[in-house]
Amino acid sequence: MTLSPQWLDELRARTLLSALIGRTVKITKAGREFRACCPFHNEKTPSFYVNDEKGFYHCFGCSAHGDAIRWMTDQRGLPFMDAIKELAQAAGMEVPAADPRAAERAERANSLYDVMTAAAEWFSQSLQGIEGAEARTYLERRGVRQEWITTFGIGFAPDSKSKLKTALSRFGVDKLVEAGLLISVDDKEPYDRFRGRIMIPIRDPRGRVIAFGGRILGAGEPKYLNSPDTPLFDKGRTLYNLDRAATASRKTGRIIVVEGYMDVIALAQAGIGDAVAPLGTALTEHQIERLWRLADVPVLCFDGDSAGQKAGLRAALRALPHLAPSRSLAFATLPKGQDPDDVVSNGGPRAMDALLAQPEPLVDLLWRSEVEAVPLRTPEDRAGLRQRLNNHAQAIGHGDVRGQYLAEFRSRFDALFTSQPSPRSRSFANPKFQPERPLSNKTRTIGGGGVAPVFARAILVGLLRHPAMILTCADALSLLLIEDPELDQLRLILLDAAYDGVMLDSDALVPICESAGLGELVASLMDSNGLAFSFTRRQADSEIARRDLGMAIEALAARPALDAALAAATARLAEKWDESGFAEQMRLVEALGDADRRLAALAQGEEE
Ligand code: UTP
Ligand code: MN
Repeated sequence: MTLSPQWLDELRARTLLSALIGRTVKITKAGREFRACCPFHNEKTPSFYVNDEKGFYHCFGCSAHGDAIRWMTDQRGLPFMDAIKELAQAAGMEVPAADPRAAERAERANSLYDVMTAAAEWFSQSLQGIEGAEARTYLERRGVRQEWITTFGIGFAPDSKSKLKTALSRFGVDKLVEAGLLISVDDKEPYDRFRGRIMIPIRDPRGRVIAFGGRILGAGEPKYLNSPDTPLFDKGRTLYNLDRAATASRKTGRIIVVEGYMDVIALAQAGIGDAVAPLGTALTEHQIERLWRLADVPVLCFDGDSAGQKAGLRAALRALPHLAPSRSLAFATLPKGQDPDDVVSNGGPRAMDALLAQPEPLVDLLWRSEVEAVPLRTPEDRAGLRQRLNNHAQAIGHGDVRGQYLAEFRSRFDALFTSQPSPRSRSFANPKFQPERPLSNKTRTIGGGGVAPVFARAILVGLLRHPAMILTCADALSLLLIEDPELDQLRLILLDAAYDGVMLDSDALVPICESAGLGELVASLMDSNGLAFSFTRRQADSEIARRDLGMAIEALAARPALDAALAAATARLAEKWDESGFAEQMRLVEALGDADRRLAALAQGEEE
């Protein structure tokens, strides 16, 4: 007697599925069926149904589906024969002595799944055989241990166009082509697709092999050859290792997404079992939805290089329409040029745990990438930033989450570009110039750290009226970048005169300037209608005027250094992003804005 389909049907018929499932899962009667929170995925409202009449269970959330035998293998984790024995004992049936493999094969139809399973077995045998020597050495060199080769079912496809075709001929060429194992071009004889490659089986959520990723030994193109899409395999809907990771994820409450097969395998070896990988493409919406069934906030790992960062942003944007309360993504940035495989090989599981400990929330990733995208010097730049952030927030489908993002971006934006005026400048400010207000054209300095002519003229007028300030401010004064050659020369003459120890008053300065050929400039400065400060006015309280003049010169002198530092910080960030570099960049942007606002606060409008 064998384990025939009839015998298995009898076994199913004698097993009350709801009673079997009810032993480990809390189920409630719902009409002719039973309902429960699905034991195969994380959920709060029940979408798992048990139908005793039909003898199967089905989850409308994660599509878990099966009969009593499947329940024992998938949910209870028993090997097939053990599942049979346990069910048979409960049903009072005798298990016929039989070849369990033959029985299992009989149980499953001669389907594509069987083809894939047979192929995986054959690849495994090839890896352990004579032909697999080089592949075994390769895996050993990469630190993949035998135990894990077995767990992940890793195999080897010999470098031949016909060995698989011959070995699996019992399925027929058409089936092998349909399974993607043979390539059939035009009228040529179909031949083996995978040749001379390490074979990594890709399993569906229920653990069945549905495709393969084949890695070349050493260098060569393409590095990975994957199965084409087949009736079993849809690349965009599959996540490598989802079946095993789902089990691990139920314990850790976490799901990690890495980029490659080898990363998943290396992490599992290091004790991190809750990792999956997409199949060489950007994460699809379907895959993201699948991840959310396992954890509210899947953690995506990306390389710290710019390609990795772009991939992270792409995933973030794709997730926006589907965000929901508590449901988001987080991002762990790896050291540049390293994948998780490298991280655990070099630093062990601890190094990876450290990277995973505090992943960057989705909102931070969006904010950071937009703030870094372009320099934020001009009002137009800043308006552009605000628009991009708003667009992202508007892409969020869920109303409340969208509202939260809009509010969050607005408050971050305000914090970045609006700082309170310092008490010192406020006491001198004319109420006409609110520091929060955007600076007018008149009061805007030119880029690159230079002093706008309108400011240079005001400063020079101030110095001509209050010559004692030349020495006091000599250091800051010599730092100013004044582009107009005449104004620049005047600055030098004033500094020279001060250093020469000339008893400085306005009357003494005019002839010195005249003898340098700058008489006309000085005359025009002294009676021009320019930007008005306390220090440019004819009769001004000289103590306040001198203090304002000193502050204005300081504010202007700070610019070249800040500009240079900002340019350097921005270049460093473009090279490699890190938290402290980013903080530095933000500090510099803030300091520049602050210098502008101090000047604006000092200005008192146009001279009458
Ligand atoms: P990686 O090149 O990062 O792969 O590509 P890896 O897993 O780290 O491989 P090793 O360490 O070099 O052996 C990431 C993933 O992109 C897909 C594969 O799914 C791979 O795991 N890929 C890559 C392809 O499909 N084809 C390729 O040629 C390369
Ligand atoms: Mn790798």
